[in-house]
Amino acid sequence: MNSNIFRKLSYGVYVVSTWDNGRPTGCTANSAMQITSSPATIAVSINHDNYTNQCIAESGRFAISILAEDSEPSIIGTFGFRSGREVNKFDSVKYSVEDYMPVVSDSCGYIVCNVIDKMETSTHTVFLGEVVGGEVFGDKEPMTYAYYHKVVKGKSPKNAPTYLPEEEEKTEEKKTRKFKCTVCGYIYEGEELPEDYKCPVCGMGPDKFVEI
Ligand SMILES: Cc1cc2nc3c(=O)[nH]c(=O)nc-3n(C[C@H](O)[C@H](O)[C@H](O)COP(=O)(O)O)c2cc1C
Repeated sequence: MNSNIFRKLSYGVYVVSTWDNGRPTGCTANSAMQITSSPATIAVSINHDNYTNQCIAESGRFAISILAEDSEPSIIGTFGFRSGREVNKFDSVKYSVEDYMPVVSDSCGYIVCNVIDKMETSTHTVFLGEVVGGEVFGDKEPMTYAYYHKVVKGKSPKNAPTYLPEEEEKTEEKKTRKFKCTVCGYIYEGEELPEDYKCPVCGMGPDKFVEI
């Protein structure tokens, strides 16, 4: 099988959020899709090891914030390369409570769902959600997964269902030095890594970068 064919599937980039006993939490996800229009139903695939999985299972609800091309890239890093077990992700990301759920303000809008069913795979739970609310914030262009890779030059961690092992090591031309963020995998190219540099994806400083 040629696993590159998976790169031809199209996705968006979302923050799937929920409550953890009154504390907002969530993770970055690309695996959200609309299953039916009436009644409106959405599915998301969340890794068993992600804290968000157990929080959705316990709360029975989730929201999807649809990130925009101009959404702050560090939102993807905060929600996609750290765990709600260790950090309060919403402390550093502006949000509002809509239809009783926490949603990211710097986004195209949100969809809120009640979990109506779930299916277990060996690594991920597919949560099926009946849509109970949603709103559009302004006229922003939604970020596609391809845009995240090509323009933001972001990576996906192992817990993302679409992770491909070669992604980690894939590099472009070899004319400058390359420094890799050990937290999110972002690659900085240049002569030197500036002392005040902050990773555009996860916000980490130069101490988290290694030359490759
Ligand atoms: C671009 C991107 C897409 C991702 N897509 C998914 C996904 O669809 N499902 C999933 O379970 N994890 C996905 N992840 C990984 C989770 O966001 C990541 O494991 C996160 O740290 C889990 O946080 P938590 O432990 O607080 O739930 C993705 C990460 C990135 C950066």
